[in-house]
Amino acid sequence: MAFFIWRDSFNIGIEEIDQQHRKFMEMLNECYEAVSFAKTTTINHELVNKLKAYVSMHFDYEIDMLKNTGYIETEQQLKQHKYFESRISELESSLLHVNAESLITVFSFLRDWFLNHILENDRKYVSFVNQAAKIGTK
Ligand SMILES: [Fe+2]
Ligand SMILES: [Fe+2]
Repeated sequence: MAFFIWRDSFNIGIEEIDQQHRKFMEMLNECYEAVSFAKTTTINHELVNKLKAYVSMHFDYEIDMLKNTGYIETEQQLKQHKYFESRISELESSLLHVNAESLITVFSFLRDWFLNHILENDRKYVSFVNQAAKIGTK
């Protein structure tokens, strides 16, 4: 069974953001495959660093966009993003030295958290951002 398959219903309707969300999930898939197919018990630093760099780029992009529109829950978004990044950092040391089974658990946690955040929280700002964009172009 595939670790993660993107569905259209995961799109929130802001193209650049959807592409970034999708790309992050692809990167998680890559990490998962590296572990499960190569049957390795360690994952290389490069993959983890790429994942961290990408998610931090996405979070910065999203927060900038929300700040520019004056979105009311920007602070909450920021807190949730920080939590996720701290979990990745915390998990990073274990990511590099545990058995394949624990790695899968870690990846599953990252996948579930990220998807849940998209569907529950990111989705909430869409109408606000679209509205702000409309006002901005008037
Ligand atoms: Fe977010
Ligand atoms: Fe996001």
